[in-house]
Amino acid sequence: MTESALIFGVESSCDETSCAVVADGRRVLSNVVSSQIDLHARFGGVVPELASRAHIEAINTVIERAMNQANVSPDQIDAVAVTCQPGLIGSLLVGLMAAKTLAWTWGVPLIGVNHVYAHAYSPALDAEPVEYPAAALICSGGHTALYRCDSPRDLELLGSTIDDAAGEVFDKVACILNLGYPGGPVIDRVAGNGDPALLDFPRSLLKGDSLDFSFSGLKTAVLYHVNGQPGGSRKPRRRKTGPHALRQAAQSGAGHGIEHFTEQEIADVAASFQQAVVEVLCVKLRRAAKQIAARTMIVGGGVSANSALRNALQVEADKLGCGLRMPPLSYCVDNAAMIAGLGFHYFQAGKIDAYDLPARATVRR
Ligand code: KG4
Ligand code: ZN
Repeated sequence: MTESALIFGVESSCDETSCAVVADGRRVLSNVVSSQIDLHARFGGVVPELASRAHIEAINTVIERAMNQANVSPDQIDAVAVTCQPGLIGSLLVGLMAAKTLAWTWGVPLIGVNHVYAHAYSPALDAEPVEYPAAALICSGGHTALYRCDSPRDLELLGSTIDDAAGEVFDKVACILNLGYPGGPVIDRVAGNGDPALLDFPRSLLKGDSLDFSFSGLKTAVLYHVNGQPGGSRKPRRRKTGPHALRQAAQSGAGHGIEHFTEQEIADVAASFQQAVVEVLCVKLRRAAKQIAARTMIVGGGVSANSALRNALQVEADKLGCGLRMPPLSYCVDNAAMIAGLGFHYFQAGKIDAYDLPARATVRR
């Protein structure tokens, strides 16, 4: 078994071009991320064709910077790990071709990595190894799922979203509230000034022992609330005079389109929406942790940067007496360090791939 190795990681599954050098699956020597947020912001979401082109333009510079920052030469690299699934197919292909070229040129093994599994590995970067078994909640723009993890490499799907991903709903609700893109960070910030208990937005699939998620009803409820259609928030959660409070809200502009909402009303919707997402994610992760008698709860993916979620999960973990591992903010969003980190464990186990390794938009294994 290889105890020590330098892995070069490549990530390009969505709108971040990233390369990293990681030692022994843990020590991050470099992690360069070139974000395309400005490119996609005016469209309110990622445009796949633009994303692929931007990856092509960025990839060579990002590779060079990752090697320079790590201060290593190609002959020191032991393997190249790359995201091969899931993601936008055109974007994946750019990183995969670059990684194949590097592996062939440097004469080292190529290792394909599942992007979602890498998010579950991200809390182990620059940190102590995770104690298993662990229940991992991965919530990002494209995925929301729960896994049982018995090692960095052994993951079993326990449940996933049946419609929108959590990050996707943050982005869409931010669009409804006219807050810009990407929605997660801005809702996180704006919600800080709002009342999370004011509006009662729906929490789906909480009953029974389901570990699946559904967020599209919540998104629609926010839209209906903003437009004043029936089916929005059911009642103010704390104010006892429900109809009265709703009438008050209507008089002050709420329910007639977002342009009539005051800054405070927008903050209240953002905070109440965020609270609904956070509650669902917490309940499901706690449920999964109990079901598998987990020693650790893991959270990863872009939404794991959310401050309300991080605070709420800490409370859950303390109540359960279970460990909680959350990546630092820099490893919450897409990055190549997590790809290289997990790639090390495949390298150690001798799980390397051939040059015909395909890119897959959806997960097959
Ligand atoms: O993991 P990631 O970078 O890309 C995917 O694999 O999808 O996640 C991006 C998602 C976006 O939907 C973004 O709005 C969300 O993560 N996000 C957040 C926060 N920061 C990023 N959602 C909630 N709160 C945040 N602070
Ligand atoms: Zn991701």
